[in-house]
Amino acid sequence: MYARASKILNNRFAKVGVALAPALGLVGAASASADNAIPPWYPWEHRARFTSYDHGSMRRGWQVYKEVCAACHPLERICYRHLIGITHTAEQAKIEAKNVLIDDIDDQGNNIQRPGRLTDGVPNPYPNENAGRAANNGAYPPDLSLMAKARDGGADYIFALLCGYGREIPAGMTLLPGQHFNPWFGGGAIGMPQPIYDDHVQYEDGTPATIPQMAKDISEFLTWCGEPHADTKKMWFFQALGALTVMSLVTTWATRYTWNVVKTAKYTYKGPGPRPYD
Ligand code: HEC
Repeated sequence: MYARASKILNNRFAKVGVALAPALGLVGAASASADNAIPPWYPWEHRARFTSYDHGSMRRGWQVYKEVCAACHPLERICYRHLIGITHTAEQAKIEAKNVLIDDIDDQGNNIQRPGRLTDGVPNPYPNENAGRAANNGAYPPDLSLMAKARDGGADYIFALLCGYGREIPAGMTLLPGQHFNPWFGGGAIGMPQPIYDDHVQYEDGTPATIPQMAKDISEFLTWCGEPHADTKKMWFFQALGALTVMSLVTTWATRYTWNVVKTAKYTYKGPGPRPYD
């Protein structure tokens, strides 16, 4: 019986394997033949099991976004209030918001621009996608809020992409006007000019603003934008684990306590008693 069941199962698995192997092979072949380099795996602070995001780095990353990327890229899912307790204090976040102008309509119905508030989203650099394309040779700078989730490799990819400029163009490759060579971008020709240079920003904590440093900081910040609750989830995991351990000890003890009487009882059979008519 057992032998038969295992034979059937083995056959089933063999069939699934036969179906899956070429499929996986094709996926592998497709990614291997992609016309871009695969970004290396970097040991990000937030990747380890017991660490949170690197908040100092994220604060610098916000500065890079604000001073460099915000000229072209929207970050529409982030509001100024989201920065509180993450990269800025409430007072600092209010000042960050106040420093930008938000399109609004006043009580007379006129279009106005007013200083931002904590509840405002980060303003979009362009009125719409067409305006964005028109300003960038037809290539639209995508919203960066979920960029770390949207691309294979996440932070690894963004970091590699930002550090990947200035390389020699491979022989036989021709770039259209407005295109730049970057081996990490699909096809190798990207519409984004090199966005960061050494000392492009001046960090308030005195960190030297090299290209890899800025690329790391913005990648860390964008990873948080894509998954803002990752730290909380990590913390909850350990709290839940602690609570479950205590609960399992208590239930084990309670079960043993309750069943103790039954489990330690001794039952003996004394045989039939004297028959009444004897
Ligand atoms: C001068 C405008 C400009 C600036 C400044 C700029 N970008 Fe871009 N970016 C673009 C354009 C245009 C594209 C679209 C490229 C394409 O599709 O060929 C793009 C695309 C991207 C992409 C997506 C690549 C992909 O896989 O589709 C990422 C990520 C990115 N930019 C990150 C950044 C970061 C981070 C900064 C700030 C350090 C930045 N960009 C600054 C114009 C800009």
